[in-house]
Amino acid sequence: MIVTTKLLFEHAYGKYAVGAYNINNAEQAMGLFKGNIDAKSPFIIQISKGARAYTDKRMLEGIIRACDEIFPEAVFAVHLDHGDEQTCYDCIDSGFYSSVMIDASHDPFEENVAITKRVVERAHAKGISVEAELGQLGGVEEDIQVDEKNAHLTDPDEAKIFVEQTGCDSLACAIGTSHGAYKFTGGQGIHFDVVGEIQKQLPGVPLVMHGSSSVPEDEVARINAAGGKLKEGAKGVDIKQYLPAAKLGVCKVNIDTDGRLVWTRVLREFFLAKPEDFDLRSSGKIFIPEYAKFIVSRSEALGSAGQLDSVRELALSKK
Ligand code: 13P
Repeated sequence: MIVTTKLLFEHAYGKYAVGAYNINNAEQAMGLFKGNIDAKSPFIIQISKGARAYTDKRMLEGIIRACDEIFPEAVFAVHLDHGDEQTCYDCIDSGFYSSVMIDASHDPFEENVAITKRVVERAHAKGISVEAELGQLGGVEEDIQVDEKNAHLTDPDEAKIFVEQTGCDSLACAIGTSHGAYKFTGGQGIHFDVVGEIQKQLPGVPLVMHGSSSVPEDEVARINAAGGKLKEGAKGVDIKQYLPAAKLGVCKVNIDTDGRLVWTRVLREFFLAKPEDFDLRSSGKIFIPEYAKFIVSRSEALGSAGQLDSVRELALSKK
């Protein structure tokens, strides 16, 4: 059942966080649904601009609609990740998305406000909620690369003004994480003091943590042992920090890189062991349960495991 992102946040706020996972194909979708059913967890599927262009945006929509039928007990929202203004409008008009993210965080504050406000107006007219971003994360996301020195944390006072002026429904904050596999190479970490200040300024407003992959050491080691060349110092967020962040109003935790690592590891190990094989389904059959297992572990860390029945009840009571 596809529900609004707003409903998921209402259920989670201050108690647990909902995992938001990026998908690009059918194998990832199958693993994602299976894992969340196993964990009895609600979740968010994120589609990026790159994912929409990878095959065709209609392909991903078709896959998600099919999964909704294959797994009728699933409760989830569909979200556009890091949209520009035009892509947001496309998704709003499609009628398929529960929420969109407008990312104008690279623009000056006033410009970010103006763009976000336009998207909010169009989205709200159709009952779709909007995630906006203030501050700048380091790392690589799609075609945008931000050096650590250009990254800057969200200013809590500015965050209050930004949300008031734009009317956005949730706020992606820069709180020390970054996109990709090399987050905390220099020993950085989540700035819980900043999250706490933002929550004080914006009580009840769902916050979003981007760049939340944990980049498991053993995953990186296995990839490199099977011929990969991930750099030394690949490091991510400690998953024990998801729940403390959730208690401070972080309702959505974005995880993309970790899923790619599982996929890369499975493919590399499979073809290294079986160089004569050319049936991609053989490795896909390993990937799907491996990704599902990964999703179960993340749902447990996020505190979303076991919440499925209660979220479904809330959703049905609002129909
Ligand atoms: P990771 O690169 O840490 O998975 O972050 C993904 C993300 O924030 C997508 O918006």
